[in-house]
Amino acid sequence: MALKIKMTALAISLLVIGGCGNTNSKPDEEMDHSKMSDEEMDHSMMSGDMMENGHMSHDDIVSLNNSTGENELKIPPMLEADNEDGVAYTVRAQQGTTEIFKGTQTKTSGYNGSFLGPMLRLEKGETAIIKTINDLEEETTFHWHGLEVSGGGDGGPHSVLAPGEERIIEFEVTQEAATLWFHPHAVGKTAEQVYNGLAGLIYIEDRNSTSLGLPSDYGKNDFPLIVQDRTFDADKQLDYHSVMNEDGTAGDTLLINGTVNPKLTVQKEKVRLRLLNGSNARNYTFKLNSGDDFVQIATDGGFLNEPVTLNEVTLTPSERAEIIVDFSQLSTTKDVALINEEGAILLPFEVKDQHVVVKQASEKMNDFSVTAEEKALPVTKKVELFGMMDQVTINGKKFDPDRIDFIQQQGVTEVWEIYNKPDMMGGMIHPFHIHGTQFKVISRNGEEPAENERGWKDSISIAPDEKVKIAVQFKHKGVYMFHCHILEHEENGMMGQIKVE
Ligand code: C2O
Ligand code: CU
Repeated sequence: MALKIKMTALAISLLVIGGCGNTNSKPDEEMDHSKMSDEEMDHSMMSGDMMENGHMSHDDIVSLNNSTGENELKIPPMLEADNEDGVAYTVRAQQGTTEIFKGTQTKTSGYNGSFLGPMLRLEKGETAIIKTINDLEEETTFHWHGLEVSGGGDGGPHSVLAPGEERIIEFEVTQEAATLWFHPHAVGKTAEQVYNGLAGLIYIEDRNSTSLGLPSDYGKNDFPLIVQDRTFDADKQLDYHSVMNEDGTAGDTLLINGTVNPKLTVQKEKVRLRLLNGSNARNYTFKLNSGDDFVQIATDGGFLNEPVTLNEVTLTPSERAEIIVDFSQLSTTKDVALINEEGAILLPFEVKDQHVVVKQASEKMNDFSVTAEEKALPVTKKVELFGMMDQVTINGKKFDPDRIDFIQQQGVTEVWEIYNKPDMMGGMIHPFHIHGTQFKVISRNGEEPAENERGWKDSISIAPDEKVKIAVQFKHKGVYMFHCHILEHEENGMMGQIKVE
């Protein structure tokens, strides 16, 4: 074992000397962390190359560069309806090139464009008929993350479209206003396709969301922020295979809505930021460099009952939070920026002096609650997350498309207990996601969840040794995935299937 580890470290050193900044030969494959002795662990932990490249835990993830603020933030276009042949929308996955850096074309993928996707605005009660087209040179699927839709329309790994294939899906929007997203989900392709740019937004609006007096002028005071870290090679290309990390691919360059070095120009008013952690693996704790507070108004699947005042909010991959920053009330508007937990500048704001009358938004936004009955329900589904790198499992097993792990009845609430079992290395956070449902967090290690988790969720962060109870109900039938949303963990089999009957 010790010999193997030394060889691994050597292999990585050689790769580094060779100018390759990562572990593309997957030297960690042979390593079984759970069987390492303390001494061996120290040895491998002390290897700087290991820390930098085959990062052993999220603490070691490469730091983000500061945004220089030289590019105004791009806003995804709102998808126009087709209304041809009864098809309301067309969403086409395609490849292309994008000028992310001035004067250079980067090979990317996108929906209805070369990079990322449009914002699909749906209204509660509407029947969406979407023609999905695969113009890629490989298989893909169209997964609607957070949407309460039947298993057949969910776009999981079973709903593959071959290159050139198209499929019309139809669903009724039955859930409340929320910021959701869509991305591919084909086995072995998800992480890479998302990395290359396949991700789009869904805004669901309803009577409530449009009457609360919230900032809702898209691209003016209501901004999506799709936050993704990437590594660009010397030619400013995205080379997924050379930077892929089994424990989650991270990069030093942050893109927001596909914009490198972004800045956002705002007026002195309340501004709504719909944050989506669309990264393969990185967690972000968002705060203002001025230390000012903001309020969180929505979780993954809907509004909180009241705005929750915070000075930071953490999102693991695929989680969303809508926050409102009142730029008329900040302690300073000079050099104010959104930063992360390390102080890296993610998004500088240019605050225009023009003062806008700030609308009074209503304080009561929703009537979400975890009922006494739900709290009293016994745990009927247990999920144990374990491992790292390519040794990740759920309940000791890896994903098998031919195996159904759980069965649940449509419309019946069950309590799931998710446990993140630490290994000898301490373990790492796994963001746990269930398809086709919005669930409620009952407790974290027996305690009530934080105020900003008292709302609908479809993804939750589970820390090592943490046990989280959630109340889960499916409105529709079908087979759905549940998995870790570190996309490489998902690819490595940290995924199971539930059949709703
Ligand atoms: Cu965001 Cu299984 O998905
Ligand atoms: Cu994971």
